[in-house]
Amino acid sequence: MKIVVLGGGYSTEREVSLVTSQGICRALNANGHQAVLIDMALGLDTFSSFASVYDAQKEMTTTYTIEASVGESVLDEQSSVFGPHVLKICQLADIVFIGLHGETGEDGKVQATFDTLGIRYTGSGFLASALAMDKHLSKILMAHHGIRTPAYHTIQSVSQFDDLLPHLALPCVVKPASGGSSIGVVIAQTVEECRQGVEAALFLDSTVIIEEFVDGREFSCGFLGDQILPAVEIIPKQGFYDYRNKYQPGATEEVSPPDISDELHHTIQDMTRQVKELLHLEVYGRVDFLVDQDERVYCIEANTLPGMTPTSLLPVEAQAVGISYNDLCEKIMQESLK
Ligand code: DAL
Ligand code: MG
Repeated sequence: MKIVVLGGGYSTEREVSLVTSQGICRALNANGHQAVLIDMALGLDTFSSFASVYDAQKEMTTTYTIEASVGESVLDEQSSVFGPHVLKICQLADIVFIGLHGETGEDGKVQATFDTLGIRYTGSGFLASALAMDKHLSKILMAHHGIRTPAYHTIQSVSQFDDLLPHLALPCVVKPASGGSSIGVVIAQTVEECRQGVEAALFLDSTVIIEEFVDGREFSCGFLGDQILPAVEIIPKQGFYDYRNKYQPGATEEVSPPDISDELHHTIQDMTRQVKELLHLEVYGRVDFLVDQDERVYCIEANTLPGMTPTSLLPVEAQAVGISYNDLCEKIMQESLK
């Protein structure tokens, strides 16, 4: 099959997306397909046939890596050859495997464009993508349907922060409403840390969430088609599961299936199914959770385009039921074509 793996793009998770996309592209080629990695943001426009792009890719040797701090671009000038004709090359493929993360990719815009143009793509549709990307909307829906999620406030400006002060409980978690990979997330112990976190997050997003801090253990649980995968427990060696702990190999222990009671595991898996249905998630995805000292389970968010990097969680969960990385990519694609 001819497959475009669409990655890179414009979001703060650009580097993560390139690593995800390169992994997927390699897997699909190893599975016998003709897959090419297209960086949505970069561009030369000299390619007009799928075969010429595929041949050009064979000459490319760049390996994408993630710096363990945000924003250090790892790209060089020859790292990608695609751009303005992204849509054209996507129309030449049998399917586009979306390897994007964050804004313009995970938020439904690309999916809606592809729907309009009749281009087949992997994963959830535009509505599920938009709902899951916006943590405020997700939380409203979850709360309305009895799915526990940490209490929160939203603010759109620093001046609103002052109005909020009488209601602020510390510690708290500050996050951009539509962020990913913990970029812009701060666990604030003091009002001043919270204010600084809000100011920084407002540079990244027009809406910022100030969330109740849940003191406990962190889990994530993915699905593949109708199958709810085993959950994974996330145990950073230091601090919380921030960008560094997500992408620095060895910084976090990932245990799947987790060392918890069957009852708690079933609760997490059942909530994953509920969130999947509530937000209309399709094909594959991952739902993130916190569990407090009394074993109350809180859903933090859903991810329609979960990371597929060497340190990402979904491949770990799939491996726990014997699904290799290459098989996972194949199943996502086949499930998307149904
Ligand atoms: N946003 C990152 C890629 C994840 O959820 O895995
Ligand atoms: Mg996310």
